[in-house]
Amino acid sequence: MDELNDNGRTPVSGETRLAAVIGDPVRHSLSPCLMNAAFAETGLDWTCVAMEVPEGQASRALDGMRAMGIGGLSVTMPHKAAVASGVDDLTAGARALGAVNCIVPDGDRLVGHNTDGAGFLDGLRHDSGLDVTGLRCVVLGAGGAARAVVHALGLAGAADVAVANRTAGRALRVAELAGAAGHALEPSSVGGAVAGADLVVNATSLGMAGSEAGHPVDPDLVAAGAVVVDLIYHPPQSAWLAALRGRGVEAHNGLSMLVHQAAHAFTLWTGVEAPVAAMDAAARAALARR
Ligand code: ATR
Repeated sequence: MDELNDNGRTPVSGETRLAAVIGDPVRHSLSPCLMNAAFAETGLDWTCVAMEVPEGQASRALDGMRAMGIGGLSVTMPHKAAVASGVDDLTAGARALGAVNCIVPDGDRLVGHNTDGAGFLDGLRHDSGLDVTGLRCVVLGAGGAARAVVHALGLAGAADVAVANRTAGRALRVAELAGAAGHALEPSSVGGAVAGADLVVNATSLGMAGSEAGHPVDPDLVAAGAVVVDLIYHPPQSAWLAALRGRGVEAHNGLSMLVHQAAHAFTLWTGVEAPVAAMDAAARAALARR
């Protein structure tokens, strides 16, 4: 084993495998921090960097990955859909979502995965012990994060997956991803659905640092015994989460989804079980520095 450097990691050498996250903007991505913590914890001679790839250039980045033998790529906005069109193979989940957040080389082919849904379910299990089978769920929002959550809830056997969104047409399309359990909510039925839900997920950007302030839905509508996940993790506690917790509702932020989707990517790249606790600690430490 090589000597460790000041970060407790093996120094980069000619043997080191490279992983990267591509996006734009990407400089504030937590992926390198999470992945490098995992490489350090497992002693794998890998390193992960962030690469800013402008919108419209994803296919060139994929060519670069092929040419340079990069061991794994994480994909973030705005490239998730373009990468789904540019890889050689897609998993069933990535195909259903039309979005890739993780690329795994397989010989000379690039395989596009989407680990967001599994990351959400694992994060929920980690935070609350909740199994969504048979549960009534409401998802607020209809962007990429909502799509992954709705799809995962449908696959995992949720009894009812209701989707509410400011732009109603988007909610209809997203609800279809949950199969027979999925349906879109009219504005007039959101309150009743939220009151009757076992699980409420905020997948809108309301309350995120740098986005509009406001509650995705009145926190007083949520049942006292429900579990809530706000996919926002920066700030660690949105005003909505604070209001829910103030009422005694069990409410979690989106950090566990972030960590667990990365844990899946780590294992897909390396074949090694992800050191989730080390990744979680690294993410928390990085966020605390912001
Ligand atoms: P991501 O891909 O990260 O999930 P996104 O695609 O930008 O993000 O989606 C943001 C979500 O937040 C959408 O559901 C958006 O609603 P619209 O589809 O109507 O745009 C929702 N959102 C953003 N700002 C909002 C606001 N002020 N009020 C209500 N919903 C809002």
